[in-house]
Amino acid sequence: MSRPIDSTALKAYLSPKRLAHALAVTDLSHHFNEHYQLNLAEDDLTIVGLGHDIARSWNEERLRAYIGKNEITLYPGEEAVVDLLHAPVGAHLLKTMGCNEDVVRAVRYHTLGSIEMGTLGFVLFASDYLDPNRTFLSQEDRELLLEESTIEDLVFRILERNVRYLDAEGKHIFEPTRELLALLEGR
Ligand SMILES: [Fe+2]
Ligand SMILES: [Fe+2]
Repeated sequence: MSRPIDSTALKAYLSPKRLAHALAVTDLSHHFNEHYQLNLAEDDLTIVGLGHDIARSWNEERLRAYIGKNEITLYPGEEAVVDLLHAPVGAHLLKTMGCNEDVVRAVRYHTLGSIEMGTLGFVLFASDYLDPNRTFLSQEDRELLLEESTIEDLVFRILERNVRYLDAEGKHIFEPTRELLALLEGR
């Protein structure tokens, strides 16, 4: 386990609004780790919580320039959705800062979900969705989700909700998302 960057350095990248989100995600990540007894490294939980949206405030031009310069591979269609680009860019940035592979994969897939995201990725994905600062989720729905008995069940329920929403909006569902949904469904 490495400690490549301290949390103060990560916080310095974030605006007050993004910092509030990052701190809530960090708290929830630690909560899920204990609640589901996952034995993930405390440092990794803090780094994904604070660092996952490190590139969220970058504008489109900066994101695309970074992706081009660093030859980051995207999924078909991913490049067309600007809101998704902060995940591959953030993962790459954290990698250059010395973060380990578990952290990098968790951040890479925190938007789409993937069978490659690992348990740390599941925890980040769920915590990102359940941040109480978010308004798209009613308190009732949030409490229902928090009753799921495993982290896999929780991620599955969130993915189902995401896919239902995307379908209703006529939006594309990416291959890694489908793969993860099928994997969790087939358990
Ligand atoms: Fe994000
Ligand atoms: Fe986030």
